[in-house]
Formats: sequence, C-alpha cells, structure tokens
Amino acid sequence: MSNAASGARILRFHTSDKVFHSINAICWYALFFTGVIVYFGNMMGAISDETANLLMVWHIWLGALFTLNFVGYILFAPDRFAVTMKNLMEWDKNTIMWFRNFGGYPRRFFKIPFGPEEVPPQGRYNGGQKMSYLIFIAAIAYLIVTGWLLWAGAPLLGKTLFYWLFITHVWGSIVVTAMVTCAHIPLALLSMEHFKGIWRVGPGDISYEAAEHHSPTWLKRDVVKVVEK
Ligand code: HEM
Repeated sequence: MSNAASGARILRFHTSDKVFHSINAICWYALFFTGVIVYFGNMMGAISDETANLLMVWHIWLGALFTLNFVGYILFAPDRFAVTMKNLMEWDKNTIMWFRNFGGYPRRFFKIPFGPEEVPPQGRYNGGQKMSYLIFIAAIAYLIVTGWLLWAGAPLLGKTLFYWLFITHVWGSIVVTAMVTCAHIPLALLSMEHFKGIWRVGPGDISYEAAEHHSPTWLKRDVVKVVEK
C-alpha cells in the first residue's frame, strides 16, 4: 500500500517549534496593539498619560516574555532552531525558480498568467516562505535588541541613536505586522493541515498528501520512516 493510501502522517512541527510559534504570535499582536495605541494615541492626543504609562508597562512585560520565548527556543531547542535556519538558508535553483511564478498563486487565485504554469518542487519551505520567515526572524531579533536598548534610554544611547532606534522599532514592527496579517496568515489558512499542525495542542504532524504537495523535496530527502502502519 502507498504511504498516502495507508494514511501515513509526517511529523513537521516538534513541540518546541509549536510552543515558540504560538507564544511568539500571541505576544507579537499584543505588543503591536499596546505599542500602536501608545504611539498614535500620544501623537493625536487621544489617550491620557496614565493610560499610556499603563500600556507601556504591559508592553515591557510582554516584551520580556517575547524575549524569553525566542532566547528559550535557541537555548533549549538548539537542534530545532538549527534545522529551521538550515532549511531557510538553503537557496537552491528551485527556490529561486519559485519566484518566476510566485508558486502559481497569482494564476490560481487572481487568474493572472504570471510566469510558467509548473511550480518547481520545493523543500521544507518554498521560496516565498524562506524569504518571509527570514525577514520575520530578523525582525524578532531586531525588535528585541532595539526594545531593550530603548528601555535603557536616551542618556545611555545619545539622542540621535535613540531617535533612529525608536523610529525603526515602531515602523519596522508596523511593516512586518502588515506582512504577517496580509500575507502570512491568509496563505497559512490555505493549508489546514499545516495550520492545525502548528496550532493544535497535541502532535505537530500533517498528512502525507500535504507534505507531498507542498514539500516534495523535503519529503524525499529528509523525512525518515519511523513507524510501520
Ligand atoms: C497569529 C497568527 C499566525 C498564524 C495563523 C500563523 C500560521 C502559521 C502556520 C500555519 C505556519 C506553518 C507553515 C509551514 O508549514 O511552514 C507558520 C509558520 C511560521 N510562522 Fe506563523 N502564524 C501566525 C503568526 C506569526 C507571527 C506573528 C510570526 C512572526 C512575526 C510568525 C512567524 C512564523 C515562522 C518563522 C514560521 C516557520 C516556523 C517553523 O516552520 O517552525 N507567524 N505560521
């Protein structure tokens, strides 16, 4: 019997990947809303100093959890972090070719005949995922570093550096939140197997068909059979 017909499951997300991703995503949006309300609320004079101060206390505690989550993933699951980074940084010919038709999504969803019809076989992540996840991980690290530097304050940094760190912290987070909200989440919802795999409380596995459809090169090259069904 074939793997697909036998209902084989493929372990894609380990517990550490799932815990990191969920805490990161929840903290991300909580940090975004507390930060944006204070920034624009102050600019427009729409919130009191008291509210702004309270929201900033929340922002800093959430930032501490966000930092611990990222540092904890690297320290306590270095093998998983390394596997993710290795897969994200492997840019072979098929990764580049993905951008010739953007994975066929413009044709599939908007009927735009963009590039060749065929999508070259992809590894664990496709070209678009590699590009965006590398940006997300860099953004997480940048927001953590700049966040703590801003917390240390202008007397330590000097006014000019403080100003630039502040502007890039605020606007960088707004740009990446737009990417996550407008692209990452809608695209993530296209594959319920991956969506449930990373978000469910329980095993992070996906169906054989989903792995074969989205990541045939990964399935062929890296996935190991461990249980005979
Ligand atoms: C709250 C809404 C979110 C949803 C519904 C969501 C959904 C998903 C899904 C389904 C995957 C698995 C895709 C795959 O198989 O590769 C994934 C992976 C990923 N997401 Fe999100 N995500 C959300 C928020 C975020 C945020 C805020 C960030 C960071 C800025 C983020 C960064 C990542 C990264 C780096 C991966 C790859 C992780 C891995 O393969 O272990 N996500 N997300």
